[in-house]
Amino acid sequence: MLLTSVTMLPSKTTNIHRLLQLKHLSRWLVSGKSYSRLVLGIETSCDDTGAAVLDEAGTVLGESLHSQKEVHLRAGGIIPTVAQKLHREHIELVVNEALERSGVDPSQLTAVATTVKPGMALSLGIGLEFSQRFVRQNNKPFIPIHHMEAHALTVRMFEPVSFPFLVLLISGGHSLLAVARGVDDFLLLGHTLDEAPGDSLDKVARRLSLIRHPQCSTLSGGQAIELLAKDGDRTRFSFRTPMGQSYDCCFSFAGLRNQINMTIMKKEAEEGIECGTLLSCVNDIAAATQHTVACHLAKRTHRAILFCKANGLLPSLCPTLVLSGGVASNQYIRKALRIITDSTGLCLLCPPAKFCTDNGVMIAWNGVERLREGTGILPPNADISYEPKAQLGVDLTAAVKAAAIRLPSVRMKI
Ligand code: KG4
Ligand code: ZN
Repeated sequence: MLLTSVTMLPSKTTNIHRLLQLKHLSRWLVSGKSYSRLVLGIETSCDDTGAAVLDEAGTVLGESLHSQKEVHLRAGGIIPTVAQKLHREHIELVVNEALERSGVDPSQLTAVATTVKPGMALSLGIGLEFSQRFVRQNNKPFIPIHHMEAHALTVRMFEPVSFPFLVLLISGGHSLLAVARGVDDFLLLGHTLDEAPGDSLDKVARRLSLIRHPQCSTLSGGQAIELLAKDGDRTRFSFRTPMGQSYDCCFSFAGLRNQINMTIMKKEAEEGIECGTLLSCVNDIAAATQHTVACHLAKRTHRAILFCKANGLLPSLCPTLVLSGGVASNQYIRKALRIITDSTGLCLLCPPAKFCTDNGVMIAWNGVERLREGTGILPPNADISYEPKAQLGVDLTAAVKAAAIRLPSVRMKI
C-alpha cells in the first residue's frame, strides 16, 4: 500500500522521507517494512515499568518491561516511594528499549498512550511526567489511558471479540465485573468491597512465609499459591465462601483472609512452630485458599451473567466472558469460570497469561483502539493529571443488588 501511494505521487524530486511525512499517507516505512499508524504505550501504575510500540493491527513491533517484583517480594509488600524511585530509574531505559526493538523513531509515532488512572499516585506520576515531556518534545498527540479499560480490551488484540461482552478483571489492586459496550463505554456490575483477590493471595502467601519455600522464592503470592495448591488436598480445610447472603455481584476477600489466618495460627500452635516457619500443611492451605477464591469469583460472575441475560445486556449469538488481570493467569480459577460459562452458554476468553499482567502492550493497544475510534486523543500540551482512584464506567451495582438474583446450584468440581 505504501508503494502504491508513493508511485502514485507525481514528483521524482521529492525524497521518500518527505513523502512519508505527508498526512494522507497512513503507513510508515520502518526497517524496509510498511506499517499503519504507530502507538507507543507506557505503563507505570503499580510496580511494572512497561513500554511497547504497536501498529494499528495490534502487531507488537517492540516492547520492554522492567518488573520490580523481586524488590517488593523481599520488602514484604510494595512500598510506594520505592516503586516510584524504581520507575524513575527505569522509565527512560524501558521506553528507549521498546523504541529501539521496534526500529521506530519517535518522529514516526502517531501518538503516545499512557496509564493515568487508577493506580498508585507516586507510580502514575512518573509515567505521566515522562510522557508529557516526551509528547511535547516530539510534538505528538497524547492518549490518557484507564488501566482497567486497558486490561478489559487486551483480549481484542488476540480474538475478534466484538462489543458488548462481560469482563471479569482480577488483579492485585482490583476485582470487578463489567459489561464492555465500547472502547470507552462500560457498565459496572460489581467491585470489591475491601481488598482485591491478588492482594489477598499475596498476603496469605506472606503469612505462610512462602518466600522461604524453595520452589516459591521468586514467585508472586498468587503464583506461589497456585504452584503449591497443585500438590495440596483442598478438602483438608474448609473456608466459607464470602458473601453467601448478599445477592449482588460485589466481592469481599478480607473476611476470607481472616479465616485463613486463624487456621494458620491454629496449625502453628498444633505443630509447635513460630510464625515465619513453613507449616507442613502449606500445600493443603494453599489448595483450600485457591478453591475458595475461585468459588467466590465464579459465583459472583454467575450472577452477573444471569443479570446480563435478564436485561438483554449481552448478544444472544456467542455471548462472551473475558477474564483478565494478573490473577486471571491462574489455571484453577480459569477452570472454575469455565464451569460457569459452560453451564450458562457463554464463551470464555482469556488473553495469554503474559498479557494478563501489567505491561506496556495493553496500554499501547488501548491507544490503538482509541485512535481507531478517534476518542480521547489530546494535543501534546494538554494539561492532564493522574487519578489514583477511578471508577470503571457507569455504576449499575445498585440495580444488580435490587435484582437480588438467586443462583441455581452448580457443582464446582474443578
Ligand atoms: O495485573 P497485575 O500484574 O497487577 C495489578 O495488580 O494491577 O496483577 C498482579 C497480581 C498479584 O497480586 C499476583 O499475586 C497475582 O496478580 N497473580 C496471580 C497469579 N499470577 C499473578 N494470582 C493467582 N494465580 C496466579 N498464577
Ligand atoms: Zn493491572
